[in-house]
Amino acid sequence: MTTIKKTVHVWSPLIRIGHWTLVISFFTAYFTEDDFMNLHAWAGYIVGIYLLTRILWGFVGGNYVRFRGFIYSPAKIIGYLKNLIARNPQHYIGHNPAGGAMVIALLVSLVGTTLTGMKLYAVEENKGPFAITAQQAQLQMRSISLIAEAKAEDDDEDEESKALNIDQKVNKQAEEFWEELHELFANLTLLLVFLHVGGVIASSIIDKEKLVKAMLTGEKDVDDTYQ
Ligand code: HEM
Ligand code: HEM
Repeated sequence: MTTIKKTVHVWSPLIRIGHWTLVISFFTAYFTEDDFMNLHAWAGYIVGIYLLTRILWGFVGGNYVRFRGFIYSPAKIIGYLKNLIARNPQHYIGHNPAGGAMVIALLVSLVGTTLTGMKLYAVEENKGPFAITAQQAQLQMRSISLIAEAKAEDDDEDEESKALNIDQKVNKQAEEFWEELHELFANLTLLLVFLHVGGVIASSIIDKEKLVKAMLTGEKDVDDTYQ
């Protein structure tokens, strides 16, 4: 028989507010684009700020927040999942081994989504942190003009329209590439979110863990079976 021994403060306000802000911003970004590009980009920037803070906290934060506190070997992760399925779960005060692996996967995928989003914004609209300056654009156009000059010699088309054509083609290809990659990362993150929420629900049912409550209040009731 296990008895509840103490209540531990696991998640700081920064982690909790950060998590729920991330949830709102992620879904806002996911369901807005095209006509709501400003909102989309700003929701994405909030995700970016969350990521910078959370990654920094992964190195300097407290025991349960630091990466080295919840990154486990594949053997430990598999072992944890086997025990969970056998309905003999091990208890962890912070992230359990499977939850910890999911947090890392979510963070990596979110970094990919945000960075490719910013790159796409620069390629499509020349906006955002990766937008190029007028001087860089001029340099780019000049090198394209040189290619066009060489090509125009064996063609009827004049050099300027050839350069514009090449520029448009290069831009279109870059746009398609970054759009595909951004969409891929956004959908990969969404898939991970489904698994993440599924994991939280499974732990709550099988493990009788009140994980969502802990992410709201910051506190967990633990006993001596917790590690
Ligand atoms: C309504 C849906 C969601 C619920 C109920 C939920 C619930 C939770 C819970 C309970 C934890 C703590 C897990 C533990 O104790 O080990 C957590 C952590 C986390 N969740 Fe969610 N989550 C949701 C949506 C999301 C979404 C949409 C994302 C990302 C786009 C996300 C990313 C994360 C991350 C990165 C952590 C780690 C927190 C940290 O260590 O700072 N979650 N979530
Ligand atoms: C985690 C945050 C983000 C999510 C979940 C997300 C999700 C998406 C999705 C699902 C699309 C539609 C892709 C398609 O169907 O082709 C999209 C498009 C786009 N996103 Fe993001 N995005 C995020 C962050 C960003 C950021 C930070 C920026 C730039 C500041 C950005 C810029 C764009 C642009 C320019 C498009 C193309 C819009 C269009 O031409 O219709 N995204 N994003």
